[in-house]
Amino acid sequence: MFDLLVKGGTLPDGTRADIGITGDRIAAVGKLEAEAARVIDAGGDLVSPPFVDPHFHMDATLSYGLPRVNASGTLLEGIALWGELREIATVDEMVERAVRYCDWAVSMGLLAIRTHVDTTPDHLRTVEAMLEVKARVAAYLDLQLVAFPQDGLYRSKTGRQNVLRALDMGVDVVGGIPHFERTMEEGAESLRDLARIAAERGLMWDVHCDETDDPMSRHVETMAREVTRHGLGGRAAGSHLTSMHSMDNYYVSKLLPLIAESSMTAIPNPLINITLQGRHDTYPKRRGLTRVKELQAMGIPVGWGQDCVLDPWYSLGTADMLDVAFMGLHVAQMTHPAEMARCFTMVTETNAQIMGLQDYGLRPGCQASLVVLDAGNPVEALRLRPDRLCVISKGKVVAERSRNDARLALPGRPGSVRRRLG
Ligand code: FE2
Repeated sequence: MFDLLVKGGTLPDGTRADIGITGDRIAAVGKLEAEAARVIDAGGDLVSPPFVDPHFHMDATLSYGLPRVNASGTLLEGIALWGELREIATVDEMVERAVRYCDWAVSMGLLAIRTHVDTTPDHLRTVEAMLEVKARVAAYLDLQLVAFPQDGLYRSKTGRQNVLRALDMGVDVVGGIPHFERTMEEGAESLRDLARIAAERGLMWDVHCDETDDPMSRHVETMAREVTRHGLGGRAAGSHLTSMHSMDNYYVSKLLPLIAESSMTAIPNPLINITLQGRHDTYPKRRGLTRVKELQAMGIPVGWGQDCVLDPWYSLGTADMLDVAFMGLHVAQMTHPAEMARCFTMVTETNAQIMGLQDYGLRPGCQASLVVLDAGNPVEALRLRPDRLCVISKGKVVAERSRNDARLALPGRPGSVRRRLG
């Protein structure tokens, strides 16, 4: 007798299986005949482990237009705008916006998020707010908080001190932003410093690294060196890495093996990279996405992050990781069927691996978190970005949507062609 039974789903690898859930764990996967307190009929639809976002800014989300919009559309105006907003936003306002975003995320089957929390202001209201949000949503959504010195570890007078204060308050992950320090040397020194802090405290490390079109922004080289030196391996992630888009190919041929040697991971953020980078170009205008396929070819785990929704840097967004993967697929030209399928894996399993999530997946013993999508397989899910029919988190149904099963029934055409009608 299961508490919940998801009948007749198609798993991401194409196999058909029922999933039996007891408490907050997956109890069995396969052809299951046992009774259940509640049965959910997946009817052949895709049943996936939940979406995971390894890069977000929840202290700034849903603040679009406050105190005004980003007129130039650049990263630097976004940072300046946020610098004003974080001084006037109250803890309650940030909590309300973030919890509302978490509701959106759950409705999209997004059940784990790593969010960078700005530790620049001495008041640390951002940290206070995000710690409260993490506790409030813990029953159904896993939040990882990163101590992120937005204005620089050294460039801001109390930058280093505030990162340590935030970690002491319970923030989980060490951050960094070397390309925003005053000089290349100070950027490199910030990485040596932060890697030591992460190693000494036994924490993960996630750096906004080389988020610039400047091909000479080579901090990822120092980061990989420090990850290797301290043996941080997969506990370390380089976020963005956009300068690799503009680097000389010869230099990249030396850099990729150094990144692979370190075992660190990479988190490009395609919606934001394509929007913010290349703003100083005329034509040809650079895409500003890192070298995704080349990193993957070296065995380096690469996920897709969302970064921003309705904030000083990005004016759109819906908490849908399929939108993120869809953009990444296009910009990185990952159009082979195997590459498209990989894009789906990136926003599920690879992102979970990058965040170090325990018991993630659809195997017996794993945490009972999953999403039923109105699509037949991962590539169709990317094409349609369909309704999430049912979202289960830690053994409980947390979102449901009635099946919009509109189908075209034209003469001479298969009746199974799905369309998002209405
Ligand atoms: Fe970011």
